[in-house]
Order: sequence, then structure tokens, then C-alpha cells
Amino acid sequence: MTEKLSADMAGLTHAAELLKAGDVVAFPTDTVYGLGADARSDDAVEAVFTAKGRPSFNPLIVHVDGLDMAQELALFTPAALAFAQDTWPEPVTLVLPLRADAGLSSLVTAGQDSVALRMPGHPIAQQLITAFGGPIAAPSANPSGRISPTNAEHVLSGLKGKIAAVIDGGPTPAGLESTILSFLGDPPSLLRAGTYLPKGFALAETLDNAPTVPGQLASHYAPSAPVRLNATKPKTGETHIGFGPIAGDISLSVSGNLAEAAAKLYATLHEMERVGATAIAIAPIPQTGLGIAINDRLRRAAAPRNA
Ligand code: TXA
Ligand code: MG
Repeated sequence: MTEKLSADMAGLTHAAELLKAGDVVAFPTDTVYGLGADARSDDAVEAVFTAKGRPSFNPLIVHVDGLDMAQELALFTPAALAFAQDTWPEPVTLVLPLRADAGLSSLVTAGQDSVALRMPGHPIAQQLITAFGGPIAAPSANPSGRISPTNAEHVLSGLKGKIAAVIDGGPTPAGLESTILSFLGDPPSLLRAGTYLPKGFALAETLDNAPTVPGQLASHYAPSAPVRLNATKPKTGETHIGFGPIAGDISLSVSGNLAEAAAKLYATLHEMERVGATAIAIAPIPQTGLGIAINDRLRRAAAPRNA
């Protein structure tokens, strides 16, 4: 049984109690829904890996309610601290050296001596972390390799019966995962393109070149149906997803707005899944701004499947 909780004080209090008991709870963030567990508990974190079917070598992002909690977990250089102060709660995750006394389960970091930290910019997520009173490890709340969830129904369609609860906070505003920056080196490097657009970091060069981020492996974010990219016209049997002047059967954004397309991308792919589309073709998306993150996810959705 998976409980659907309301995004009010009663729902949040109950969700925090479930987390304290070591249960797994999905919750909305500004980007996508996360699958949360007590980041200090081996058993709770293991339950996240089991529910998702996620390989244990793929580390999880730890969610904090602010810089105080973050600094108990990781070592911040002055540059990393200044960046976080200026930027959080924008959707950007920082990879930093793990503190020896952080107290996190080693499953969270997959045994690495670094940790990925993020302060979600969604009131429900922030209130949940504060009510729980500690760091929450949370990958996206989808079965490993599949489309990330942007509403509570998506979470349930993938994980119903496998997790204790989901907080229903409606659709997530951004719709694409956070940007990941590694502050292990100087200058920092981009590990995953996302909703936050970094200024002054080598963008395209580092995108295809992050072997320590398994989420960056080719096949990911994938619907069951095969996906064809840069399709100005559909072939027989394909459902056509449009953008801008290319109308398609359904459009990511009729006006060609990239933020709208990012917010709608996963919901549209989930809808293809729900209606049983057998082949999907997607119109070209410009490789600028948010289009970089959208095209990154689309390439992975279209990549040959692992098995
Ligand atoms: O927007 C988001 O970031 C969402 C919401 C729920 O916060 N979370 C999310 O988590 O996308 P997940 O697990 O689906 O993706 C996290 C990525 C993975 O590719 C993982 O390999 C990488 O972060 N990661 C985690 N810890 C890392 C570390 N110490 N070093 C490098 N990469 C790390
Ligand atoms: Mg994910």
C-alpha cells in the first residue's frame, strides 16, 4: 500500500514520521519528484535503491534545508560557499568533498569521498526536510532508467506498492532535473545540464564526459516506445511531438518557449506511455539555454536500450 498524502501540515507531519521510521516517501521538488529517505540510515537508503531497482554504484543527491545543514555534511571552499549563498535555492546540485564526520550512510555516496548536495526551492520539500530535521537522500522517484516523475500520478504509476507514501504537491514547476556542478576541481565542472543555466562554466565540452555520474550513461529517461529525434514529419505509426512551428500531434510549446517545453517534456513522455504509443518522433529543439538540458534528456531517451 502506498499512501497519497496531502501537501498540508497533516500530510507533512505524517511524511516526516514515516521518514523517521526509516520508510521511503516521495515528495515534490522544484524540478521533479524525489524519492526520499533518511540519508543517515543504511536500511532506509537501501530501501530507496530497492524500490527504484537502482544499481548501488550510482550515488544519491542529499537534500538539505539550507547552508547550515549542508556545511555539516561537506567541506565548502570559499568559492563553493559563495556560489551556494548566491545561487541556492536555484535548482543546482553541488558535488563537494564529504566531511569525515558527516554521518551519512555510505550507500548514499556509493562509497565515494564526495557528496552531491542540493537545497530544493519548493516549499513542500523545504518544510519536509525541516520537519524531518535532517538530510534526506532522494533520487528522482521513478524506476531506474525510466522517465522522471513531474506529478504524483507519475510516481504512483512507477512505484505504487513499493514505497510508503507520496506527497501530492501537484505538477513540479521546472520539470527537468537540477544542474549538477562538481566543486572537487578548480574551476568547477558541469556534470549534468539542468534547469539552472550556469554562467562561466565550460558547458558543451563537459556534457558527454562524466563517467562518475551514472545518470549520464547513454540509455536513461526512456519511455517503452522507441524515440526518434529531430523529426520534422512523422513516419507511419509514429506519434509526433511538436515544438514551435512544427505542430505535431501534441506540442511541447506552440510558441516555441523552452521553459514551457522543459516543464512539459516528462509529462508528455508519460502520456505517450499511458496511451500506449508504439513509436515516438520529436521535433527539433534549439540547442540554446534550456534547450541544452532538454536535448540531453532526449538523446538519452532515444539511445539504444541496455536490456
Ligand atoms: O532535480 C534533481 O536533482 C532530482 C530531485 C529529486 O532533487 N534528483 C535527481 O536525482 O535527479 P538522481 O538520483 O536521479 O540523479 C542524481 C545524479 C546521478 O546521476 C548521480 O550519479 C549523481 O547525481 N551523483 C550523486 N552523487 C554524486 C557524486 N558524489 N559525484 C558525482 N555525481 C553524483
Ligand atoms: Mg533520475
